[in-house]
Amino acid sequence: QARKLFDYNIVLIGFMGAGKTTISDYLSTVFDMEIVEMDQVIEEREEMSIPDIFATYGEEYFRDLETALLEEMQERKNMIISCGGGTALRQRNVEEMKKNGRVVLLTASPQTIYERVKDSDERPVLKGRKNVEGIAELMEQRREKYEAAADLVVQTDHKSVLQVCEELVQRL
Ligand code: S3P
Repeated sequence: QARKLFDYNIVLIGFMGAGKTTISDYLSTVFDMEIVEMDQVIEEREEMSIPDIFATYGEEYFRDLETALLEEMQERKNMIISCGGGTALRQRNVEEMKKNGRVVLLTASPQTIYERVKDSDERPVLKGRKNVEGIAELMEQRREKYEAAADLVVQTDHKSVLQVCEELVQRL
């Protein structure tokens, strides 16, 4: 039986590897909330991988799909929406996130991010910069937008999944 705790949706944002997927999986298990993993839903609907969507239709097309999905989710509540790392870069997406509920920014150092993403080939945005310096640079470019979008910031370096979730729920 679902334990309805939140009268709104929790929207997780942050850089690739910040822990959005891991934390949303854990929260959904503990609170019996449904997850919308945006990248996954988009891949299923398009019947294409993210790298293929980028290569075939370009980034703007992908961001449009993100906007549409965020709009759709506003009809629901008690959901965890796990965004892609770039979702919060578009102002329009941020507006749609805010209509969903509370926006939580997960952060980690470039070194930690590097350790988490180094073995993945599924991130076209990291092509050519999959090293600590490249990650630090892109993170710096995005930082202001991430922070502006967030209602709450949770640091994930050197914390267990449980610690991050506890802190998040406590401060929500
Ligand atoms: C992106 C992050 C990815 C995915 C796409 C673009 C980005 O999501 O949406 O590759 O621009 O940072 P993850 O943060 O889940 O890797």
